[in-house]
Amino acid sequence: MTAPGPAAHLLVCGGAGFIGSCFVRDVLGRRDGTRVTVLDKLTYAGNRANLGDVEADAEMASRFAFVRGDIADASAVAPLAAANDAIVNFAAESHVDRSILEPAAFLRTGVDGVHVLLEALRRETERARRSERAMAPRFLQVSTDEVYGSVDEGSSVESDALAPRSPYAAAKAAGELLVRAYHVTYGLDVVITRGSNTYGPFHHPEKLIPLFVTNALDDLPLPLYGDGLQRRDWLHVSDHAGAIAHVLARGAAGEVYNVPGSAELTNREVVVRLLALLDKPWSLVRTVADRPGHDRRYAMDGRRLGELGWVNQVGFDEGLAATVAWYRDHEPWWRAARGGDWDAYYARQYAARLATSSAAEPSR
Ligand code: NAD
Ligand code: DAU
Repeated sequence: MTAPGPAAHLLVCGGAGFIGSCFVRDVLGRRDGTRVTVLDKLTYAGNRANLGDVEADAEMASRFAFVRGDIADASAVAPLAAANDAIVNFAAESHVDRSILEPAAFLRTGVDGVHVLLEALRRETERARRSERAMAPRFLQVSTDEVYGSVDEGSSVESDALAPRSPYAAAKAAGELLVRAYHVTYGLDVVITRGSNTYGPFHHPEKLIPLFVTNALDDLPLPLYGDGLQRRDWLHVSDHAGAIAHVLARGAAGEVYNVPGSAELTNREVVVRLLALLDKPWSLVRTVADRPGHDRRYAMDGRRLGELGWVNQVGFDEGLAATVAWYRDHEPWWRAARGGDWDAYYARQYAARLATSSAAEPSR
């Protein structure tokens, strides 16, 4: 195992997104000499403003570099892989609903992009074996509980079969399987994390919690899919980023680690809490046509990560209240995130649904 210690040089792919930017802020915020280079394509979901705190702090900025580029571009990746001790890959198209509308970009980044990263890692590992660099780089692939598919009861363990049910989840599973194959075939030092539904500051407003918070702030309808009784296990973004750093430093090569959340709730239960925090009425909630292939429930067993010494720090009620406060205080951020293709996406995703929606029955 060649886990990077303090003062390591990390390449963080997708570090301008929601979870990646939290990871970068937290790692640089430890002020232990670690250097971070972010490689990010800046898709609609990537935002350099998410790294504003880092760039505004002279000491952190001195250990930080930003490269705009695509993980599927081998010429962009090669020199960065050569210059770093580890690669942490957050880069992905991350929204299930968009994967149902347009799957191609999910496969390009989730499969071709991961393949390009692994080929660079393979070259660097061979260079280390020839003593042309000190150590082979470690690779951490950020994956998701969605690779297990819908879990009616119990909780998924890392050895369970993968059964993805959306183009997004299938692309994530394919990426993971490539990572595993490169470990087995070429002996690369890899670890994989499977994270639960994450929430917190800087979350793009297309996702359930920030969509409902920002719509409610504008008194717009809140489109609840189907009966709203789907269950998710919510994980605060700082806990997700912290668990990833923990696995990067301590995980066993070739292993997969579930990263469960702290609160399994139905979507209705989440919405009730949000409306109470926002002091908005239930009448904003509309029942709309369900997501095709909608996974009913995710739940993961976290024992393996627990044995590695990781414990989540943020309770859901505390984390949700702070998240709602953050959106209230950062209106320019979320209004800007609703720029670009937002209106076209929103119309495509919700116009017909809202036109045929009904008042949601009060929460059960
Ligand atoms: P996000 O959409 O907020 O961020 C993704 C980032 O990747 C963006 O900055 C984007 O510009 C960048 N990116 C996309 N394609 C790229 C490419 N080809 N090359 C370089 N950069 C590219 O996503 P997120 O919610 O922060 O998720 C990060 C990772 O965590 C993803 O791999 C996702 O599958 C996984 N994950 C997310 C959650 C969650 O609830 N958000 C839970 C478990 C796992
Ligand atoms: O479980 C981990 C996954 O969590 C990550 O891998 C994904 O990247 C991340 O986007 C998230 O996926 P979900 O599909 O669970 O998250 P989303 O916020 O899109 O939806 C959460 C739940 O809320 C889900 O049951 C669908 C429902 N929903 C969502 C939206 C956007 C609605 O009812 N209405 C909506 O408008």
